[in-house]
Amino acid sequence: MSIKTIATTPFTDQKPGTSGLRKKVTVFQSAHYLENFVQAIFDTISAPAGSTLVLGGDGRYYNREAIQIILKMATANGFGKVLVGQGGILSTPAASAVIRKYSTYGGIILSASHNPGGPDGDFGIKYNTANGGPAPEKITEAIYARSKTLTSYKLIEAPDMALDQPGSFTLGEMQVEVIDPVADYAELMESLFDFAAIRALLGGGFRLCFGAMHAVTGPYAREILERRLGAPNGSVINGVPLPDFGGGHPDPNLTYAHELVEIMYGAEAPDFGAASDGDGDRNMILGRKFFVNPSDSLAIIAANAALAPGYAAGLAGVARSMPTSAAADRVAAKLGIPCYETPTGWKFFGNLMDAGKVTLCGEESFGTGSSHVREKDGLWAVLFWLNILAKRGLPVEEIVYRHWAEYGRNVYSRHDYEGLPSDAANALMAHLKAQFEALPGQRFGSYQVKFCDDFSYTDPIDGSLSTGQGLRIGFEDGSRIVFRLSGTGTEGATLRIYLEAFEPDPAKHGEDAQQALAELILIANELSELKLRTGREQPTVIT
Ligand code: G1P
Ligand code: ZN
Repeated sequence: MSIKTIATTPFTDQKPGTSGLRKKVTVFQSAHYLENFVQAIFDTISAPAGSTLVLGGDGRYYNREAIQIILKMATANGFGKVLVGQGGILSTPAASAVIRKYSTYGGIILSASHNPGGPDGDFGIKYNTANGGPAPEKITEAIYARSKTLTSYKLIEAPDMALDQPGSFTLGEMQVEVIDPVADYAELMESLFDFAAIRALLGGGFRLCFGAMHAVTGPYAREILERRLGAPNGSVINGVPLPDFGGGHPDPNLTYAHELVEIMYGAEAPDFGAASDGDGDRNMILGRKFFVNPSDSLAIIAANAALAPGYAAGLAGVARSMPTSAAADRVAAKLGIPCYETPTGWKFFGNLMDAGKVTLCGEESFGTGSSHVREKDGLWAVLFWLNILAKRGLPVEEIVYRHWAEYGRNVYSRHDYEGLPSDAANALMAHLKAQFEALPGQRFGSYQVKFCDDFSYTDPIDGSLSTGQGLRIGFEDGSRIVFRLSGTGTEGATLRIYLEAFEPDPAKHGEDAQQALAELILIANELSELKLRTGREQPTVIT
């Protein structure tokens, strides 16, 4: 088979966002678009000849086609071996686990995470390095730079490969090993959690419902929750991955995971509910008629970590993204371990984990994980909760209330305004920034502004600086409002407003977050001239 060099012209818009390059499927389908980006990755990482790559995706529309193209390009670019998930499937955390287990040079994950799929939906591609984590900014920036200059890409001409059965094949000089996408991951989970205790819990009448949202976690959840842990068949709902996620929006939040939410708030609600997103790295945790805020979930996992065998030796430290509530900070303080505050996006946790500084990390955006891989991990969080529930023998709600009673409650909410015109969103951010000098000291109702800044972060391990990571307005009593524009959307702009207040009084812990934050919400809307600038009365999604 001969290697072909195909002439191409560069695209100017292949800049990876918070988590890889995401575009409409139709954009990826346009001539040379995917190929250019893949070649830019290969040129940038310059893997030694014969290196091994991991390849898989969340099964969304165009996954299969993209895998075939990437295999043909990988062999033409001198890779020696590709481990590809059967049927082209690998969840993001499973891909990270496989990269680490087999010490591969890196991996390519095809996913647009929680964004809708299908012919009119989104597609995405990201590169993960040898530690199993998303490529750091210096690599993604270099890939972007390369994408703007390359003039050709390499591939071989060959028929498509059969990827639906495990086995080993050759493509040109390269070996293609089709692996079971679940096995290595399931084995890793068994090494971290007390499966016997969870099995006993599930055997004792405790009922759970896991919503896989027709996305990649279905096969993982069925194998682990139903087959290995003995949850009755049917505990996993919407467990068959579909290229368009059944027409849904595979984002595990109260808005998009409504089927699960209805079950968990219904008359015969199970004891525990959970969901994961398109590529399996997010999680939502629910009790019976009870929502666990992801920031609280991170803090509760940290506080109870010693109950899981894989974490019984203690935590080196925890990390959270800046917009995530400070609930985890309180646990870290009590445990006497460091807590790091990083910019949004999982890539910032990698260095801290590689350096052994942190064991647990999390984001308010339904992402929690640990140093077992270098991605956030949806099912891992679900298993951690089940492990805690099995050991403590209390309902989800009770665990949360007891946590608040001990540490105080960081009342928290995120308001998303999706699909805004980019100009309006940028102008709103500029308007906020323009007030930064005048705001400190000003009083708004019961709140007085203490500081404002545009968050920047110097990585404590490699010294790299990331600027422009979100506008923060902090108040004298520790409450705060953060404004950020999403880096993962593909259409227009998404404005995220993060609101946080601290409530030490247990008598007030039952209050609804929106009510408790009502005054801060008004201040946020006023300071940003939200309605005037966006025409929106209400957020698209409230978390
Ligand atoms: C969003 C979340 C962020 C997460 C990322 C990838 O990014 O806010 O926490 O790491 O998705 O799952 P954003 O759209 O805000 O840039
Ligand atoms: Zn995801």
